[in-house]
Amino acid sequence: MKSLSQHLGEQGASGELQKLFALLAESVKDIAQIIETGRMTGYSGTENVFGEQQLKLDVATNDLLVERLRNCPLVSVLASEELDNEIQCHADGAYSLAFDPLDGSSLVDVNFSVGSIFGIYPGKGFMGRTPGEMVAAGIAIYGPKTTFLVSVGKGTHEYAFHDNDFFLTQENMKIAEEGSYFAPGNLRACAKSPQYKKLVDFWLEKQYTLRYSGGMVPDVGHILKKGKGIFVYPGYSDAPEGKLRLLFECGPMAFLVEQAGGNASDGRVRILEKKIQLVTQRTPIFIGSKLEVERAVGHFDV
Ligand code: AHG
Ligand code: MN
Ligand code: MN
Repeated sequence: MKSLSQHLGEQGASGELQKLFALLAESVKDIAQIIETGRMTGYSGTENVFGEQQLKLDVATNDLLVERLRNCPLVSVLASEELDNEIQCHADGAYSLAFDPLDGSSLVDVNFSVGSIFGIYPGKGFMGRTPGEMVAAGIAIYGPKTTFLVSVGKGTHEYAFHDNDFFLTQENMKIAEEGSYFAPGNLRACAKSPQYKKLVDFWLEKQYTLRYSGGMVPDVGHILKKGKGIFVYPGYSDAPEGKLRLLFECGPMAFLVEQAGGNASDGRVRILEKKIQLVTQRTPIFIGSKLEVERAVGHFDV
């Protein structure tokens, strides 16, 4: 059994990147334990920069990651979905990290799978850059198992947590050109978007299989694990940019999916090519099997 750090080394990841992933792996282990104890329930009484009520779990997982990462000399800038501003850490830090400490946190109380999302950029900061400049990305899935799907630019690989470490369970995950699983985010938008309604009818007429939990991490993780399918969270009249965040959610997801041979688009351009102008920037997203993304985007005249 190859450990995460052994496998990262085999892929030529630098010692610094391996060290960073060791910190992230440690944090994922701790977050899984915080969730598992079930002690942390309810709202914190604060809201994040997106105006969303923060759960105590959002705040606790965010604080855990910030404390651990800001003390690491490798880290130049930190940005979190749960923080109003970036945190300047070490001027000569090799990497800047953007993360969603707990994605789908509102699903913990019903015991659905949730996740953490990490995007790693070389050097300092994010503004004016594109997610395509990332050198690595990862998603942790807190489900029946705790798994960590990681890419350092040499394919996307799955590691499972047991015996106090992460071990390689699937190398080079591959997403086929097409596949009949669909994960329709924000389905309610069909009431105002005839184009989205037509796309959903297309999937239903073709008898695609619905696989949607409301948590982007397990929903996209499903496409990576099964090796096919599509997840969408489109924009529409009330919210042209949709809901999901470019820096904290869509960028890292696009990196992992493209490394597995899939596509990720905002309906016009590749997610990885979008310029990051605001930490709070949102984007529509169509992500998964190449042909499925093409078919879905084709239903929206952009
Ligand atoms: P978060 O819990 O970090 O705020 O993100 C939840 C996101 C994503 O996981 C999911 O795909 C989407 O919100 C669901 O949005 P709706 O509740 O609007 O369906
Ligand atoms: Mn999120
Ligand atoms: Mn979140």
